[in-house]
Amino acid sequence: MTTATAARTPAIDSRLPRVGTTIFTVMSALAQQHGAVNLGQGFPDFDCDPALLDAVERAMRGGLNQYPPMAGVPQLREAVAAKIDAMYGRCYDPGSEITITAGATQAIITAILAIVHPGDEVIVLDPCYDSYEPNIELAGGRAVHVPLTPGTFRPDFARIAAALSPRTRAIIINTPHNPSATIWTAGDMQRLAELLRPTDVFVIADEVYEHMVYDGARHESVARHAELAQRAFIVSSFGKTYHVTGWKVGYVAAPATMTAEFRKVHQFNVFTVNTPMQHGLAAFMADASHHLGLPAFYQRKRDLFRAGLAGSRFRLLPSEGSYFQCVDYSAISDEPEEAFCRRLTTEVGVAAIPLSAFYQGGFEQRIVRFCFAKKDETLRLALERLAAL
Ligand SMILES: Cc1ncc(COP(=O)(O)O)c(C=O)c1O
Repeated sequence: MTTATAARTPAIDSRLPRVGTTIFTVMSALAQQHGAVNLGQGFPDFDCDPALLDAVERAMRGGLNQYPPMAGVPQLREAVAAKIDAMYGRCYDPGSEITITAGATQAIITAILAIVHPGDEVIVLDPCYDSYEPNIELAGGRAVHVPLTPGTFRPDFARIAAALSPRTRAIIINTPHNPSATIWTAGDMQRLAELLRPTDVFVIADEVYEHMVYDGARHESVARHAELAQRAFIVSSFGKTYHVTGWKVGYVAAPATMTAEFRKVHQFNVFTVNTPMQHGLAAFMADASHHLGLPAFYQRKRDLFRAGLAGSRFRLLPSEGSYFQCVDYSAISDEPEEAFCRRLTTEVGVAAIPLSAFYQGGFEQRIVRFCFAKKDETLRLALERLAAL
């Protein structure tokens, strides 16, 4: 037998047999192929503040290019703690309660791996961000899907209560919410606190859109709620806040005992997050106007986009937070959501994401999601194409 015939790649017994190419990748490729305006994937098509680039460059040229401390550059952890205190009135200790992560994605999987044991259940509220379930499966757990109320996307506490079991280890919540653009109220947080009070269930609070809340509403961070904060990993993303999604830097705030376990996993799945970006972000955060100005910045874009669709047959759903706008297209077509999105991309020239992609097993509501984190000219071009529908 020759070496060539003996060489063989062993077959993999997949840990994630149900995971394939995501709809985001599919729609982005289709958009590119057909020259469509891509309002599908959630990222800005404009650049960040040049002052942030300058701060990172200063750090790089100043020799800050080697491994930082495992939990993150101290100045950045201090800036995060100060921001959380100023915005939500909770004091996290930067030394033992804040960890800098490689984006929110790594924060979420690390939190899950830190607390979920094989056989544990984790409640997720559909529609939800696509990384949650594979993360839970990699930890050997099982995602228990509870739908948000169809139509309003409000949390359904009766159904959440019914889903709680002795095996429930955690619940993942997300506000402002991707994809529905709804936000949780103080009353919602109170209800959740009451439900969890007799349990040992952890909360993973995905708050990556924390600075994108509109019409004068306030972001109900779990950090505002003492009882919930005591059992929560609060996750945020500098990528979302400062228009640098490709940098993949985020953070987690959690009580010291939870952070200690989190860091055990963090230490061995990423160890550290790139140094100059952390220094640059720390310097940039010293000016709070950068994040405080975000609601007005995005609300203007949201309003431009909504106004442009007002004369069309799309029915606009509320967009209370995040940088997404969902629309009901049932007056235009009775196609299923994915088929409609494909046709919108190939024939109309605008890419969107079907909401069914955020549900386990799909769920058809004739609703699609647009991202308005785009230059005004991009939004105008998309609107020219959509307004006639
Ligand atoms: C709800 C939600 N969570 C987490 C993430 C991931 O954030 P990051 O890019 O910081 O990993 C996203 C990005 O789209 C998101 O929409």
